[in-house]
Amino acid sequence: MATTVITNISSLVTNDPSLGEGPLGTIRDAAVVIDGDRVAWVGTSSKAPATDNRVDAEGRAALPGFVDSHSHLVFAGDRTAEFNARMSGRSYSAGGIRTTVAATRAATDEALDANVRRYVHEALRQGTTVLETKSGYGLTVEDEARALRIAAAHTDEVTYLGAHIVSPDYADDPAAYVDLVTGPMLDACAPHARWVDVFCEQGAFDGDQARTILTAGAARGLTPRVHANQLSYGPGVQLAVELGAASADHCTHLTDADVDALANGTTVATLLPGAEFSTRAQWPDARRLLDAGATVALSTDCNPGSSFTSSMPFCIALAVRDMGMTPDEAVWSATAGGAAALRRTDVGRITPGARADLALLDAPSHVHLAYRPGVPLVSAVWRAGAREA
Ligand code: NIG
Ligand code: FE
Repeated sequence: MATTVITNISSLVTNDPSLGEGPLGTIRDAAVVIDGDRVAWVGTSSKAPATDNRVDAEGRAALPGFVDSHSHLVFAGDRTAEFNARMSGRSYSAGGIRTTVAATRAATDEALDANVRRYVHEALRQGTTVLETKSGYGLTVEDEARALRIAAAHTDEVTYLGAHIVSPDYADDPAAYVDLVTGPMLDACAPHARWVDVFCEQGAFDGDQARTILTAGAARGLTPRVHANQLSYGPGVQLAVELGAASADHCTHLTDADVDALANGTTVATLLPGAEFSTRAQWPDARRLLDAGATVALSTDCNPGSSFTSSMPFCIALAVRDMGMTPDEAVWSATAGGAAALRRTDVGRITPGARADLALLDAPSHVHLAYRPGVPLVSAVWRAGAREA
């Protein structure tokens, strides 16, 4: 297998403190050797071993590819009008999901597949090399299973979210919908997914329903993750921790007990600032979670309703400006934090043996991701050792 060295990197984030300075393990004047799909060596440029190929980074910064652990890409239709209405003062509610459900059910497999492909590629160009995505806009046995099959063609990180809202077909009988989600729909979906998720919120599923659904998913080998405490205070975060969920996502409205639970449990707190941006909601308090000792991930929540961005750099900039994170913390959360939220140790780091996923920035340091918001700084991307963008 051919080896390649990327040399003359001004500043390399490894996310391994034993390899460089600070918690990000930053190495100055660095080089990375890629062998096949793996990182074979990292260190200072002058000590790099001989390789078959050589790429000159010309003083750019490099960091691990972003790990976006929360998105909803299997959808059709358009909700521009809903966004416009919100920006004229209307508030966001879970009910908007129904618009996308109708459009998604009406779409062909080819149209849905093309949509996922488009957004995965859009994210890749912005440095995202691992991306989780969910069902949740089908809400019938067939439409949920189809969404997961389509998602699985584009990523290994697939989440069953039949419990996004109660299907409009079951508006009068939510208990029967929970039976469907934990019965025939789970049977059809479990083979295509790694994770099970519930939107635990007023207007979606309460704590008891969420527990039933997550427990049923876990019994079928799916690890829980939870949409928790997004629009209001509620039981989602503590349920996630109690069930050993990989992640509690949103975490916008947290009591001290919720923060304590996250700090003392194994569940990652995944913050999704694109959602607060696009719904004009209060920001999640990343500083409070970090100071308490919780593990924090940052993700896009890319979906047509509450957060139509695929940009991890945008989320980093918001987290630094408005959520109390330092640029180093935000970059860690968008890479190693996302990997932790997906229970992955092969990505989110640039260390020997890791998958060779990295982004080069047209900037001398990763801090520019927050310092230069809105600027397309990602100038090259490798995923599993292949140059993709
Ligand atoms: O994560 N909160 C629930 N689900 C999505 C929004 C989905 C939609 O509005 O279509 C979210 O924000
Ligand atoms: Fe979401």
